Amino acid sequence: MKLVVPKERRPDERRVAATPETAKKLTALGFDVHVEEGAGVAASYLDSDYAEAGATLSKDIGADLSDADVVLVVQRPDDQNLGGLKSGALLIGMLAPGEDKSSIEKIAKSGVTAISLEFLPRITRAQSMDVLSSQSNLSGYQAVLDATQEFTRALPMMMTAAGTIAPAKVMVLGAGVAGLQAIATARRLGAVVSATDVRPAAKEQVESLGAKFVMVEDEETASAETAGGYAKEMSAEYQAKQETLVRETLKKQDIAICTALIPGRPAPRLISAETVAAMRPGSVIVDLAVEAGGNCELSKPGEVVEVHGVKIVGHRNVPSRLATDASALYARNLLNYLTPLVDEESKDFKIDWDDEILAATVLTRDGAVVHDAAK
Ligand code: NAI
Repeated sequence: MKLVVPKERRPDERRVAATPETAKKLTALGFDVHVEEGAGVAASYLDSDYAEAGATLSKDIGADLSDADVVLVVQRPDDQNLGGLKSGALLIGMLAPGEDKSSIEKIAKSGVTAISLEFLPRITRAQSMDVLSSQSNLSGYQAVLDATQEFTRALPMMMTAAGTIAPAKVMVLGAGVAGLQAIATARRLGAVVSATDVRPAAKEQVESLGAKFVMVEDEETASAETAGGYAKEMSAEYQAKQETLVRETLKKQDIAICTALIPGRPAPRLISAETVAAMRPGSVIVDLAVEAGGNCELSKPGEVVEVHGVKIVGHRNVPSRLATDASALYARNLLNYLTPLVDEESKDFKIDWDDEILAATVLTRDGAVVHDAAK
């Protein structure tokens, strides 16, 4: 079973889909692991470490991809790199199926079996494979550090001979995986933290981290969470009430960390231009939802903009800013996904396509797009 890990080719992508640690474990599982030369360098993993782990360094990635049985990627490779995969090969990664339908069609037509890990069900058995959680967790942490970079004050209270510095006030919008990590990080840095969400279940989690929970509570709140634990898009009436709550709260805050997302929909708009104008000069907004349309009306992907003295940070691909740890966790997610697909004794594939995790994540198979959400 030949397994190939190409270098990521998209701009700003520093992560890699296998680390020396997982290359070693994949080899022990029975894979013949090939890693493109330099694939891990941007994440601080050296070619020599992959070689020591038992991987072969690939000098001609095109040739290696053409007879690969498994290809591990972080993001969907662009069309010119996909051409060479053989029919029946497994392509596994975060394939962003909602973003480029024609590319997914091409993968399907080539006969490749594409597996999109964004579709992993949030069930206990899949937790160790959950790429959205592993990457969001790091994003939540990094978002707070990115805020401190633009903030011209300190976060903790400091009592000095020259006087006392008041602690900064941080509000986290969206208390899922990234939001909860942002709360924990801001608290560790000494800020006074509050958070909001539309799912009432988030209240207990926010409070257990020592932050204050604020939310619009009305008859719609009870049905704000789907059976899968995700948020729904709220009514226009609810959104108007929420915007008022957010504006009144942010007037008294220093930093807003935006993490609110709705699967398959544009990110909810929580901070209007009017709210930004009402914030104090020197405040900072970090919009982790910027690539999904943004929680803040004024954020721009890949830019730090300043409006009325408020800085709005819209970095793209935030997990890639912590490429070493993001790759380590992502690579382990992939290893945990692959392990049950291999028979321990024969060291060959033994795939149960009806398994709940496989059924949820297979995007293309036998020449067709098979996932309902991607059709
Ligand atoms: P996500 O990335 O889809 O959204 C982030 C947060 O934004 C969510 O908490 C969501 O409720 C919130 N949000 C959406 N619209 C909003 C609005 N208008 N205003 C304020 N907040 C809004 O969510 P994530 O982080 O992927 O987590 C989704 C759920 O999955 C959570 O319930 C989480 O606890 C659960 N989960 C379960 C896991 C498991 O294996 N059992 C693993 C990871 C997450």
